[in-house]
Amino acid sequence: MSIRLAILVSGRGSNMESILRAIKDGELDAKVEIVLSNNPEALALVTARKYGVHAIAVDNKGLSREEHEKRVLAELANYDIDLVVLAGYMRILTSNFLQQFKHKEGYFKVINIHPSLLPAFPGANAYEDAFKYGVLVSGITVHLADEKVDHGPILAQETFSRLESDTLESFKARGLAVEHKLYPKVLQSIAKNGIRLLPNEELIKQ
Ligand code: GAR
Repeated sequence: MSIRLAILVSGRGSNMESILRAIKDGELDAKVEIVLSNNPEALALVTARKYGVHAIAVDNKGLSREEHEKRVLAELANYDIDLVVLAGYMRILTSNFLQQFKHKEGYFKVINIHPSLLPAFPGANAYEDAFKYGVLVSGITVHLADEKVDHGPILAQETFSRLESDTLESFKARGLAVEHKLYPKVLQSIAKNGIRLLPNEELIKQ
């Protein structure tokens, strides 16, 4: 089944582009209905438009979290969306936002990619944090979102090694290459088989 996506971004948009490219190349059976950024300057908006996708900014500057989310939800309400895809969206989502996308089985139809092996190193600087900590193996996590930051049922993880010769930049670049393959792959698996969760009573709300 083709899945209808809304992609939320804040900056560069390289993960968003990996999704758009996979769709264009016929590797992902999905349609991106809208790309939305809280940052009007996001390069992601320019890139999305190059792919012919409707891309808008809902600036969060000067707005309370609730008011900003209200405006974001009003935009998303114009579309029939199967899944909200967070791709470098550096905003914490409120419970009210997530509730709008609640599946009957209790989880939220909001997916996120995070550049560490969660639950290690949540937050905005995961590559830096893992590198500085001195991990020998790191990885990428794709998970469903919940009210906590970089938290929720895990759908996929893929590891990569830290090499002795790595700088932070080379470490990040290797991780990002993993992200760009993993996110479209997980989305295609959802398009084909739906969302399949491993049992985890702590994370999956009923
Ligand atoms: C990516 O590395 C993504 O995993 C990370 O932000 C970057 C966005 O890059 N997300 C998080 O850290 C979420 N906590 P992109 O805009 O080029 O996709």
